[in-house]
Amino acid sequence: MSADLQIEAYNDELKHAVSCAGDFERKLAQGEPVWLSLLGNCGAGKTQIAMALYRRFKPQMAKKPDTGSASGWRETFQKKQKFTWPFIANKIMQRDYGIIDYVCDDIDFLVIDELGGGHDIKFTKSKLSEIAERRIGKPTIWTSNMSLEQISDELDMRIASRMIRHGSHAVVFEETEDWNLVQLQQQAG
Ligand SMILES: Nc1ncnc2c1ncn2[C@@H]1O[C@H](COP(=O)(O)OP(=O)(O)OP(=O)(O)O)[C@@H](O)[C@H]1O
Ligand SMILES: [Mg+2]
Repeated sequence: MSADLQIEAYNDELKHAVSCAGDFERKLAQGEPVWLSLLGNCGAGKTQIAMALYRRFKPQMAKKPDTGSASGWRETFQKKQKFTWPFIANKIMQRDYGIIDYVCDDIDFLVIDELGGGHDIKFTKSKLSEIAERRIGKPTIWTSNMSLEQISDELDMRIASRMIRHGSHAVVFEETEDWNLVQLQQQAG
């Protein structure tokens, strides 16, 4: 059991996920903000890992450029936030575009869960591309039931590419089965 992530890494995919999660945290601590993408099978532990990392991120004071202040800098408390993509997409559909600037600019550590969950149209996909572009260089965790290929084909090729660029990792669960189903089968058998 990986005590940190509250996950039992019982196969190679899960061990790889734990290792990538550790690398993500290490890079973050070294001031190298990257992305971590947890993709694939339902019930494999993607949200569990994302939320464990989310809870471990410790907000602290950070300096941000501010032309309005005498020093040119403003001290702010780092913000972390988690959303599901269908929630953000729904806001966009309601023309609540403030959500875009908010997730791009105001949040230091962002989790976007369930990318591709729900029904994306061309418009929400284009806004997703904008968000991804603006989150480059900011710690971001994405989870999705889609594979990298599906993200590339159905959402945006550039998002898939950035998920594996410049030290970012994408873990794809292809063999790990739904944890709860496995528990049920073990109890039954
Ligand atoms: N390897 C594991 N060890 C311990 N608990 C696990 C493991 N994998 C999953 N779980 C538990 O199973 C449940 C489902 O996991 P989780 O929600 O993270 O799956 P998911 O990959 O996000 O699924 P979905 O694609 O449906 O969103 C959670 O309660 C989680 O704590
Ligand atoms: Mg999930």
